[in-house]
Amino acid sequence: MTHTTDCLIIGSGAAGLTLALGLAQKAKVIVLSKSDVCAGSTFYAQGGIAGVYNIKDDQDSIEAHIKDTCIAGANLCELSSVRFVAQNAKNSIQWLIDMGVPFDTKEEDTQKEQSPYHLHREGGHSHRRIFHSEDHTGRSIQETLVQRARENPNITILENYNAIDLITTTKLQMAGNKVLGAYVLNTKTDKVEKIVAKFVALCTGGASKVYQYTCNPEVSSGDGIAMAWRAGCRVANMEFNQFHPTTLYSELDRNFLLTEALRGEGAYLVRKDGTRFMQDYDERMELAPRDIVARAIDHEMKKTGSDCMYLSICHKDAEFIKKHFPTIYERCLKIGLDITKEPIPIVPAAHFTCGGVMVDKKAHTDIQDLYAIGEVAYTGLHGANRLASNSLLECVVYGHAAAVDILSRLDCTDLYDPNEIPDWDESQVTNSDEEVIITHNWHELRLTMWDYVGIVRTNKRLERAMHRIELLKKEVHEYYSNFKVSRNLLELRNLLTVSELIVRCAMMRHESVGLHYSLDYPNKLEHSGPTILKPCI
Ligand code: FAD
Ligand code: SIN
Repeated sequence: MTHTTDCLIIGSGAAGLTLALGLAQKAKVIVLSKSDVCAGSTFYAQGGIAGVYNIKDDQDSIEAHIKDTCIAGANLCELSSVRFVAQNAKNSIQWLIDMGVPFDTKEEDTQKEQSPYHLHREGGHSHRRIFHSEDHTGRSIQETLVQRARENPNITILENYNAIDLITTTKLQMAGNKVLGAYVLNTKTDKVEKIVAKFVALCTGGASKVYQYTCNPEVSSGDGIAMAWRAGCRVANMEFNQFHPTTLYSELDRNFLLTEALRGEGAYLVRKDGTRFMQDYDERMELAPRDIVARAIDHEMKKTGSDCMYLSICHKDAEFIKKHFPTIYERCLKIGLDITKEPIPIVPAAHFTCGGVMVDKKAHTDIQDLYAIGEVAYTGLHGANRLASNSLLECVVYGHAAAVDILSRLDCTDLYDPNEIPDWDESQVTNSDEEVIITHNWHELRLTMWDYVGIVRTNKRLERAMHRIELLKKEVHEYYSNFKVSRNLLELRNLLTVSELIVRCAMMRHESVGLHYSLDYPNKLEHSGPTILKPCI
């Protein structure tokens, strides 16, 4: 089956839906999700979206947001990107409000000149500037944007469609390198279909699923990064995978995040005996940037031989906790933990991919008419460590920028003749008879990444990881060449590509900075920049 459209958007999170809604006034778009439409990280975001909306509130300023972003990013951020995002935060948040996102408002009567919104504070932020819907901001954003998209006749959402690879002129052995569409696996029918489009946008989210322990959903397997890499795009800063300091540690419930806003509202990090430890690591204590807090927890766990540390908010008023953190309160209660009365066991887990496909301010990649937006992209905003709540903001700011750019080029860009593009060829492959190989390799890879390419790294660990990855790649390549594609196989292949990119970037960085900490290079270099990888195609 062949579909045609003006813009194919691969991914239905904050990035994909912002772009779709921005384009739909004039263009036809197809939005893909490899699972259901709400399957991405956006739905699970808790804390909120950062932005300076009204400087009369709390004396905050765009300059302060820029400064906080750069400090959290260990000064490896690209200043022009940081400025671009911080300056566009107000419009982006206003757009979400106009779409109908129900951000929390202040309870008390506010003075006329102040904004009515209740703002949270999170680690690394010098002011309260996080817009939120209770503790489920992502769900509110995702559901609102999905509703707007479903109402729009120019937007077609295809769920359970797994993009396999981009179709480009280079792959068809034609001149230039322009994107023409993508091959996609319809996982309901198990048939590969072809989508031909004037423009393609990768909005596939991050790659934290390369790690054994992650708070990301199933879909975060770095597919967009791997597809872009195979098609010829540069990627950057893949070594900076962020570990969120506080995910729930429990046999009964896995991968559940405990928002940093808890610490913003006064929660402490404590050892099993109830003593605080952040004073030994950073003067900002629990509100230090994430890389510092995650490393401190990791260090305390290793030092004390404990399986977890604890997050305690029970010194706060119980009604305040239930009102501001209802999702977390209920979820913990389900496993018999009353957070108003007892500390919560926590461990760090893989959370966010700071690197990705290199793009400019219009979200252009190295390939003509191919865009990358959201967690899949490297814009330079996050540097060596992302500031809390800057990710949803990046999705919306760059989603709008790409929409403006695509609309300006819509009428002068032609759709390539779909008949000139070959259908997916399955004539040489058979059905797999050993899915167990995929499952086994999958576990091995994720454990290898956790053990050797985690919060603390060494040259030897990275070499070990690379060795495993090379062996697994050979096996999976053979498998890919001989058997029909399945979602698991596609994800494993992408996870391997992304893991290799992470290890290669980590090997290139001979310093410890932000999220990359190496025992062999414990200091930060005086001058450093992004680690950039260029594919040979
Ligand atoms: P996603 O929302 O992850 O969407 C990816 C989409 O791509 C999905 O629709 C998926 O199905 C689709 N997809 C992937 N691969 C394919 C493929 N091969 N074919 C077809 N479709 C594909 N950030 C903040 O700013 N504030 C927060 O409070 C916050 N809290 C967070 C809490 C949690 C638990 C997590 C996991 C993340 C949080 N983040 C937060 C980070 C933020 O949520 C994400 O970075 C952001 O939502 C990414 O949006 P996205 O649109 O780029 O991708
Ligand atoms: C959180 O709520 O702690 C997550 C915020 C983020 O990842 O930006």
